[in-house]
Amino acid sequence: MSHICIQPSHVAIVTGGASGIGLAACRAFAGMGLSVVVADMNAEGLARAVEDIAAASPRGRDAVRGLRCDVTVRQDLQMLEAEARDAFGRVDILMANAAVQPGSDILGPDGAWDRILDTNLYGVIRTVQAVLPGMIADGHPGLVIVTGSKQGITTPPGDPAYNVAKAGVKAFAEAVQHDLRNRPGCRISAHLLIPGFVFTPLTANGRTEKPAGAWTPAQTVDFMMQGLERGDFYILCPDNEVTRQVDERRMLWAASDIVENRPPLSRWHPDYADRFEAFLRGAG
Ligand SMILES: NC(=O)c1ccc[n+]([C@@H]2O[C@H](COP(=O)([O-])OP(=O)(O)OC[C@H]3O[C@@H](n4cnc5c(N)ncnc54)[C@H](O)[C@@H]3O)[C@@H](O)[C@H]2O)c1
Repeated sequence: MSHICIQPSHVAIVTGGASGIGLAACRAFAGMGLSVVVADMNAEGLARAVEDIAAASPRGRDAVRGLRCDVTVRQDLQMLEAEARDAFGRVDILMANAAVQPGSDILGPDGAWDRILDTNLYGVIRTVQAVLPGMIADGHPGLVIVTGSKQGITTPPGDPAYNVAKAGVKAFAEAVQHDLRNRPGCRISAHLLIPGFVFTPLTANGRTEKPAGAWTPAQTVDFMMQGLERGDFYILCPDNEVTRQVDERRMLWAASDIVENRPPLSRWHPDYADRFEAFLRGAG
C-alpha cells in the first residue's frame, strides 16, 4: 500500500513508542482512529504513553495496548505480535523504531557496540522478522516503517557504532522493500524514515528546551505521514537548520568519496574543507 489509505480499522505496532518520535507516531495513528500497540522496554514511560495515546484516540483506552518489550529479546517480539493479534485481530502497520544512542568510539567503551548493534540494528531485523510474516500471510495492504538516520548515510565522525547500526538499518529496509515489491500479490510496502535533528530524550543531552535547529517529534511524524501518502520509500526529513538541498549535497559528496577515490569521510578532512564548502554551495 504505497499511496496507502490509512484507515481507522487498521492496527499499528510501534516499537520504542513510549517516547519521542515513536510516541508521536502512536499519538498520530490513534488520532486517526487506529488501534495502537505501543511496545517499549521502559515500563514507566510505557504506562504514561498508554494514557497519552488513549487521550488522542476517539476510542480512548480501548484503542491502545501497551506491552513491555525489549527488541533485543526474540521472545518479547513474538509475544508482541501475538498480543497485537489477540487484542485487535490484525496488524497493518509496523514501525520498527526503538533505538539507543549512548555514544561510542572505534574501540569501545566496553559493551557499547554490542548494546547499540543489538538494539538499533538487530532489534529492527528481529522486529520485522517477528511481525512481517503474519502481515504477508494476512494478504492485506500494509506498511513497514523503519526508523533510520542520516548518520547511517553520511556516517559522520563521533559515534561509529550508531552509524554502523543505522547504515545496516538502511540496507535492511531497502532489501525488505525490494523483496516485498517482487512478491506476487503482496500489497505491503516498506519505508525508511530518516529524521533530521529532532528534540527527544535521545538528543536532549540535559537540555529542557528545544534547540532552535531541531524539529519536534510531532513535526517529524507529520512529515512522515505526508511521505507515506506519496508512497515515498526514503522519507528524508529536513529540520530547522538543514534543508533537503544541503542533505542532498552531503549525501552526494559522501558517495563521491568512492567514485573520486578520496579518503573516507573527506567532508571532515582538512585537505578537502574548501572543496566541500564549494560543493555545498553548488559551485563544485
Ligand atoms: N531524535 C533525533 O534527532 C533522531 C535523529 C535521527 C534518527 N532518530 C531515530 O529515531 C528513533 C526514535 O528516537 P527518539 O529520538 O524518539 O528517541 P527516544 O529515546 O525518545 O525514544 C526511543 C525509545 O526506544 C526505547 N527503547 C530503547 N531500547 C529499547 C529496546 N531494547 N527495546 C524496546 N524499546 C527500547 C526507549 O525506551 C525509548 O522510549 C530511533 O531509531 C533514533 O535512532 C532520532
